[in-house]
Amino acid sequence: MLNHRTVVVSGGTSGIGRAVALDLAQAGVHVAISGRDKSRLEEVCSAAPHPGDIIGLAADAREPTHVEQLWQASERAFGSLPSAFVLCAGRGLPGSLLTSDHQQWDELLTVNLLAAMQQLRAAATALRNQGGDGETVRDIVVIGSTVGRVLSAGNPVYGATKFALHSLVESLRQELASQLIRVTLVEPGFVRSGFQESAGYDMQAFNQLERDQGPFLSASDVARCIRFVLEQPPHVHVDDIRLRPTRQKV
Ligand SMILES: NC(=O)c1ccc[n+]([C@@H]2O[C@H](COP(=O)([O-])OP(=O)(O)OC[C@H]3O[C@@H](n4cnc5c(N)ncnc54)[C@H](OP(=O)(O)O)[C@@H]3O)[C@@H](O)[C@H]2O)c1
Repeated sequence: MLNHRTVVVSGGTSGIGRAVALDLAQAGVHVAISGRDKSRLEEVCSAAPHPGDIIGLAADAREPTHVEQLWQASERAFGSLPSAFVLCAGRGLPGSLLTSDHQQWDELLTVNLLAAMQQLRAAATALRNQGGDGETVRDIVVIGSTVGRVLSAGNPVYGATKFALHSLVESLRQELASQLIRVTLVEPGFVRSGFQESAGYDMQAFNQLERDQGPFLSASDVARCIRFVLEQPPHVHVDDIRLRPTRQKV
């Protein structure tokens, strides 16, 4: 059974975040999502099983008040504060240290790392302040990556952001564990989503890779794992899930 009535998902307009929002709404949870793309926000909200189950906030995750805005929007719309935060906002960058577009390094590090740190701090603070009866579990789930675990010669700059994120997630888990706040890392391998095209990966090469090592994961495959985490009883923490397409090698 899900432990939450209201959940916030940053980066809910596409891919994994969209699938998480719809999966949770299907299970009767109220969900507040964010993203910059207003038309995709509207599309996800209108795909909810009941009108109003998902609300959207058009916002950039790099804004320092991003999470506070989502918290306030949830309280306004649903009359309850969120008890879980799922961090999906992120982006990729093709290429190596030598070949990637260095003009995008700043944005990559800002979105995947600095904005993630801000969001985690804000969500952790909000959840800590509103809990404390010693029985109610709260959750923070962060989408990392297999390339944040296994060194990637092919995608090292993006991978560096995920290595750093993984380290922060584990330290946050240790910091919050005694307060019944579970901090969970989810590390997907190849997922077919908006990720590849929006970051400019070579789609011909990606499609060939899928023919060799696919089928790749769908965003729903990842959402199902996140639901599993959120459904565990308060004394059980599945704190780290790595999932790959079965035929993916590294
Ligand atoms: N796809 C994969 O193979 C894969 C594998 C492992 C890990 N991941 C990770 O999974 C997470 C989700 O990626 P995805 O595959 O679902 O990709 P996606 O389909 O491109 O979704 C990315 C989401 O992040 C949001 N986002 C990006 N930059 C943002 C910003 N500055 N402010 C607010 N929202 C922002 C996007 O919303 P807007 O564009 O509307 O702002 C979108 O909702 C990322 O952290 C990614 O690194 C992906």
